[in-house]
Amino acid sequence: MKAILLAGGKGTRLRPLTLHTPKPIVPIFDRPFLQYQIDLLRQVPEIDEIVLSLNYQPRRIEEVFGDGSDLGVHITYVVEPQPLGTGGAIKFAAGEYTGEPLVVFNGDVFTSVDLPAVLALHRERRAKATIVLTPVDNPTAYGLVETDEAGNVRAFLEKPSADEITCDTINAGIYVLEPDSLDRIPADTVFSIERGYFPSLVADRETFVASVYRGYWIDIGTPEKYRQAHRDIMDGRFPARPFVKKAGQALVSPAAKIEDGAIIEGPCFIDAGATVKAGARIAAYSVIGSHCHVGEGATITGSILWPNTWVDAGAVVTGAVTGRHCHLGRHTTVGEGTLLGDKSVVTDYSHL
Ligand code: GDD
Ligand code: MG
Repeated sequence: MKAILLAGGKGTRLRPLTLHTPKPIVPIFDRPFLQYQIDLLRQVPEIDEIVLSLNYQPRRIEEVFGDGSDLGVHITYVVEPQPLGTGGAIKFAAGEYTGEPLVVFNGDVFTSVDLPAVLALHRERRAKATIVLTPVDNPTAYGLVETDEAGNVRAFLEKPSADEITCDTINAGIYVLEPDSLDRIPADTVFSIERGYFPSLVADRETFVASVYRGYWIDIGTPEKYRQAHRDIMDGRFPARPFVKKAGQALVSPAAKIEDGAIIEGPCFIDAGATVKAGARIAAYSVIGSHCHVGEGATITGSILWPNTWVDAGAVVTGAVTGRHCHLGRHTTVGEGTLLGDKSVVTDYSHL
């Protein structure tokens, strides 16, 4: 059975972080994001091939996962000649595939959905397509999905305007699709599964089944959600690596160097090779990537520092995300919501 991970988007809403790190491999603590999705797919032993559908910086992603053998899975890569949209990309990645249903994931959804249960429902209902839904407060940024009492999809409306909202269930970006249903998608053409394929299933009254998931689900595609996913894991709202059974704790790698007199407050994560100098304070909800340096008297609060960032003495970093190899000078103040691209340099005493 094939699984397709749609990982070709540019991650524009996460710029500048995604300029050199495509969204599928932005780090969540010390692992590339897609590794969590791959773990989820491993729940289904029948899945014997995971196809990464890529477009933006495909080489960087291939370098990280290779053929998947390190993770105990078989990974292949498909790169579209140009972005074909979600539907076009699925069609392109599926190729001539027939047989077992396809499992498809948007490459930026982070969840603990019970995939075997979704697959079982799909088979039991002999569906053409099965879609996972999740309730959200504001569906406007998502695909709104209306269902009937029997759990069939009755309407699919991508990015509804406020006056079009009729329910709170949205497309969670996880599908099981019968390969023969992909004949609704034209080959080698830009085509949206959300605006084309799903509405056509509804219009033609095909068996299109919804599986509502009420557990943890988030789309990490914006900086706020990216930070929130980390907080949710650290708090145990989402039990995931590395905080499973360790919610609220300060997780410090044995290979990090924490000087006497440094203050470490949980929950936080400090990766291997990081140095925290005396008098520095790592406050709650901070992630200090590998080989980062936090100088004397510096304070990091609720911020995510990607690997190899250098924070000089006395700097105060609050609610920020910094890319790799940044340099924050002495006594800089980096405030809430700041995003710094790789190799940013903030000179001494600057305020952001
Ligand atoms: N290969 C490939 N080619 N992948 C693509 C392309 C493309 O042309 N365009 C988008 N993708 C990938 C993105 O990388 C992402 O993983 C996924 O498809 C969805 O694209 P997003 O750009 O993240 O869409 P969205 O978040 O606005 O909306 C989608 O996800 C919501 C759930 O998070 C839709 O599927 C909504 O209906 C859904 O509610
Ligand atoms: Mg998205």
